[in-house]
Amino acid sequence: MKRTGSIATSLLSFFLAIGFAPSTAWADAELAETGRLLAILHDSGRVTIAGVQQLINDPEKGDKGFTAEVFEQRMIEKFRERSGVDLTKIKTEKVPEQAKKLLPMMVEAGKKVVATYQPILNKQGLAYKNFIPATWGTQAAAIFTARTGTYLKQTTTDDVLRNPKNKADEFEAAVMKKFADPAYPRQGEKVISEAVDGGKTTRVLLPLFHVKGCLPCHGEPKLERDISGYLREGAKLGELAGAISVKLSK
Ligand code: HEC
Repeated sequence: MKRTGSIATSLLSFFLAIGFAPSTAWADAELAETGRLLAILHDSGRVTIAGVQQLINDPEKGDKGFTAEVFEQRMIEKFRERSGVDLTKIKTEKVPEQAKKLLPMMVEAGKKVVATYQPILNKQGLAYKNFIPATWGTQAAAIFTARTGTYLKQTTTDDVLRNPKNKADEFEAAVMKKFADPAYPRQGEKVISEAVDGGKTTRVLLPLFHVKGCLPCHGEPKLERDISGYLREGAKLGELAGAISVKLSK
């Protein structure tokens, strides 16, 4: 086999090829890419739950057929569409080694939540079951963090915070200020990543912007209760909803 260049050069050309550039020069490129993929995967799980929300809230129907395996297939498909990475053949995909280990563990954490909820999801006569993207997201992140030691959470700004456990730290609050700027790109999964701890740890945040499906709960009429029992924030289409935040070390 012919050697075509150093590992550093091929990594660089790989990141250039997929259009990725760390937003600061100091963020470790591999950690930043792993964090970016983990955040997109977590959000792919949220979007998968959003896609079956009507089915899940249907009081007429008993067995919904939304098993952990169905969830897994759809989450993997959404992730492939958004990232180009196929988790069914992760071993041969061009992603950092750490991502090969952690991405499947995020899928497992998500499946665990869906499996645990089966009796509630399949209950006839009950409409709202408190199973929404955010509750799935909070629980999947908690399982993932417990199993891997990797910090991953969904967070938002203080003025719209629903679950106190999702409260942003100083770093997250500062990054979300940048996301909230109307000039920040709404499309393209543009993350902000930065090295902390003298370069040992890389932090990555993926912004979440409000789309139509979010507004029945987070939109108008402001301060009226939504179906989940929280007060609506009066958010508008395209505004910043929050972020998925990941911290990774070598
Ligand atoms: C059915 C109502 C509902 C819908 C629809 C909904 N959310 Fe939420 N959202 C909630 C609830 C309830 C929480 C708090 C969940 C928890 O306990 O962690 C929450 C929490 C969040 C959080 C975490 C920060 C916090 O406040 O705790 C973010 C970020 C978020 N939602 C964004 C979105 C986005 C983006 C969408 C659309 C893609 C969306 N939500 C759709 C009800 C909803």
